Amino acid sequence: MKSHQSNIKKAKKYLNNNCCIGVPTETVYGLAANAYVDSAVKKIFKLKKRPKNNPLIVHYLSIDSLKKDCLINDKFMKLYKKFSPGPITYILKLKKNSKISKKVTNNHKNLAVRFPKHAIFKNLLKQLDYPLAAPSANIATKLSTVRAADVKEEFGNKIKYILDGGKCSIGIESTIISLVGKPTILRLGGLDVSEIQKTLGSKINVDINSKNKTAPGQSRLHYSPGIPLKMNVIKPENEEAFILIKKRKTKLKNYFYLSTKNNLNEAAKNLYSCLRKIKKKGYKSIAVEKIPDKGLGKAINDRLIRASKY
Ligand code: TXA
Ligand code: MG
Repeated sequence: MKSHQSNIKKAKKYLNNNCCIGVPTETVYGLAANAYVDSAVKKIFKLKKRPKNNPLIVHYLSIDSLKKDCLINDKFMKLYKKFSPGPITYILKLKKNSKISKKVTNNHKNLAVRFPKHAIFKNLLKQLDYPLAAPSANIATKLSTVRAADVKEEFGNKIKYILDGGKCSIGIESTIISLVGKPTILRLGGLDVSEIQKTLGSKINVDINSKNKTAPGQSRLHYSPGIPLKMNVIKPENEEAFILIKKRKTKLKNYFYLSTKNNLNEAAKNLYSCLRKIKKKGYKSIAVEKIPDKGLGKAINDRLIRASKY
């Protein structure tokens, strides 16, 4: 814990100087900077090669700090009490006097906000008097990162510091719900939509392939391992990497397991690191066996479908 404290202190120093750093969250690593400062936020877009019109998620420690920037409503309170901190992002209306940099939302009036659960990230936020804008810490459209070493691989020396918090426990990005107007799921993720539905008590819209200009990140090629990927494969070609979620009796070197016992939470946790490993080993294509479309399997399939659009 002592070394964490000194690392958090270092991270704080960089952030106070408007630098952009890698941070651990329970979902994936983030590329964080002061959400109140234009020049800091600009660095995120540049490093990620992210189009300016693709808005960022802002991370808060508490509802008190959020209230300075956003208007909250009853549905938000219900979900917040049940699921935050955790893998859910809310789209809320910005307050007129909010200090959030206009670059975060590309001048739009709605903001994506999240309360991360990772102890080290929370500890860092506790020591700052501003929230952190942080998209996933990967080059735009490429694979997300779940370890400090992955972040280093993506950005090399272009980022000054990565706060190491170990491997992300969930491994897949947060579920995004818009609470401006009728509740609508904009991205499947680490929190199962049926849980959200149960809590709100009514059926919610799911609009994950929207051409809606405020969430362009969902309408494009995304999560790409950089090589072709096929889903629902029963038997792979000899030379391709084969991803499975249940152990098989084989010594074949091209078999990679997301889980040994068909556990979808474990599979989500291992998804990005497995794809990254296969890419590094020099395989030219990837085949994936059918993943059950339930629980976190839905979010895994969502990412695989987008990755297969390479
Ligand atoms: O788990 C996560 O959510 C991670 C960690 C680091 O917190 N962050 C993350 O951020 O996945 P990013 O930027 O890679 O994905 C955010 C998505 C993008 O598709 C973006 O278009 C959408 O959220 N988004 C951001 N602000 C929005 C807004 N105001 N309205 C609608 N969609 C928004
Ligand atoms: Mg991302």
